[in-house]
Amino acid sequence: MPENAPHEPDLSPGDMPIEEFRAHGHAVVDWIAEYLGSVDEYPVLARVAPGEIAGRLPRHAPEQPAGMREILEDFEHVLLPGMTHWNHPGFFAYFAITGSGPGILGEMLAAALNNNAMLWRTGPAATELEERSLDWLRQMMGLPAVFRGTIHDTASISSLTAIAAAREAALPDAREAGLSGLPRLRLYCSEEAHSSIEKAGITLGIGRAGTRRIATDAEFRMDPAALEAAIEEDLAAGWRPFCVVATVGTTSTTSIDPVPEIARICRRRGLWLHVDAAYGGAAAVAPEFRHVLDGCDAADSLVVNPHKWLFVPIDCSALYVRDPEVVRRAFSILPEYLVTPEGESVTNLMDYGPALGRRFRSLKLWMTLRYFGREGIAERIRAHVRVAREFAAWIDADEQWERLAPTRFSVVVFRYRAAGMSDAGADAWNEQILETVNAGGEVYLSHTRVHGRYAIRLAVGNLRTTQAHVQRAWDLLRAAAES
Ligand SMILES: Cc1ncc(COP(=O)(O)O)c(C=O)c1O
Repeated sequence: MPENAPHEPDLSPGDMPIEEFRAHGHAVVDWIAEYLGSVDEYPVLARVAPGEIAGRLPRHAPEQPAGMREILEDFEHVLLPGMTHWNHPGFFAYFAITGSGPGILGEMLAAALNNNAMLWRTGPAATELEERSLDWLRQMMGLPAVFRGTIHDTASISSLTAIAAAREAALPDAREAGLSGLPRLRLYCSEEAHSSIEKAGITLGIGRAGTRRIATDAEFRMDPAALEAAIEEDLAAGWRPFCVVATVGTTSTTSIDPVPEIARICRRRGLWLHVDAAYGGAAAVAPEFRHVLDGCDAADSLVVNPHKWLFVPIDCSALYVRDPEVVRRAFSILPEYLVTPEGESVTNLMDYGPALGRRFRSLKLWMTLRYFGREGIAERIRAHVRVAREFAAWIDADEQWERLAPTRFSVVVFRYRAAGMSDAGADAWNEQILETVNAGGEVYLSHTRVHGRYAIRLAVGNLRTTQAHVQRAWDLLRAAAES
C-alpha cells in the first residue's frame, strides 16, 4: 500500500506521530479511492477456505511495535484476499448495500473524534445531530412528527429495544422483579419475520415458546385473521399478549404485512405494534413508494436501517418510537458517576437502549443525507427498483424460469425449472446454478426457501450496480442453467 511513509518503530509513549499519521492517512485515502474505483475487479465472494486467513496470522500477540507500512501491506496481502466485497456492483446477495463516499468520510471523521455520546455532555453535537438527522429521515419517509428516533448498531438491537419497551408498557414490574411469577408474555410476528425478533424474545425472557409465528397468505403476508385467532386462543390459555411485530419488506421475499389491519387489532386489544421496516422503509423516501408504510403512522415503534438501502456504511439502524419515555423507563439507570448538572433537561442517549456507549453514527448519516438529498436518494432507489423489475420481466418472459414471489422492491426471488423437472430436481439444479455462478467471482447471489422450494434471490441495492451488471448476472445464470 503506501510507499511514502517511513516509520521507525520506537517505544516512546504517545500516539502515532502526527506527520506519520498524515502520510499514512493520505496513502490510505488514496488506497480507498483506488479500491472504490476498481472494486469490480475483485472476485465479489472471497475465495478462501475456512481457517485460511487465520492460518496466515501469527498465533502470538505482537510483542514489539511494527511499522505502519508493514501493517498496511499485511492488510492488503493477508486480509484483502479474505474479503467478500459488499461494495462490489455484482453483490446481489441478502440485501445489497453501499458504503457510500460521504458515509465513508463520515466514518473517518467519527473515528478521529472518537466521541462517546453516552451523555449529552459527553457529546452535545453527536446527541443533537442524532436527533435532528433522524428527524430529517422521518420527514423523508413521511412518518408523523410524533416519532422520535435513536440510532442503534443493527435492526436486531433496535427491535430488541422496541420489544423491551413493549414489555415495559405491558408489565412494568418486570424491570424490577424479572419475569418469574408474572403472566406469561406472548409476542407475535409472521412466519416470515426476521430471526432477530425471535432472538429478542429469547433475550428478553419471553423465549421462543413465547414468540408465536403467525401464518402468512400466498404472498407471504401475515394473515390478520390468524393473528386475531391466535390472540383469542392465547388469552383463553392464560397467556398475556403484549406485542405484535409486522414486517415491511421481509428478508426472504420482501413481502409487506398488512400493517393497517394489524394496527387496528393492536389498538383494539391494547398491544404494542412494532414495525420491522429495516429494509423496506427506505423505499418510502421516494413518494411513489410511500404507500409501503401505510398504517405505520399507528405503530408504537418502527425500525429502518440506513445501512441497508440508504447508502450509509454499516452499522446504522434507526429506531423510531411514539413515546420515548417508555423506552427510558425500560432502560434508564443512573449511577452516581453518570449524574450531570444538566439533569433531565437534556437527552442522554444512554437512557434509550441497552448500551451505555454511543458511537457518533449520526455523522455518517447526516453527511449521506445531505450529500444525496432526498431527491438524490429517491432517484437511486427508483433506479434499483427499475433494474430489479427489468430482471423480473426477463424471468417472466423465459418459460424455463419462474418467479416465486412478487417483486415489491428491488429483490427478485426466482428459480429455473425446465419442462418436466420435478420440484426436488429443480431444488438440486438451482443450488448447483447458484454455486456455479457464485464461483465465477463476477456476481454473488444468495438463496432462500419459498413454500419449501429452493429459490435464488437477486437483490439490487449497491450504488455501483447498473443495468449492465444485472444483465451480466442474467447471462451467467442462464449459462449455468444450461451447462
Ligand atoms: C427484515 C429484517 N429485519 C432485521 C434484520 C436484521 O438486521 P441487522 O443485521 O441490522 O440486525 C434483517 C437483516 O437482513 C432483515 O432483513
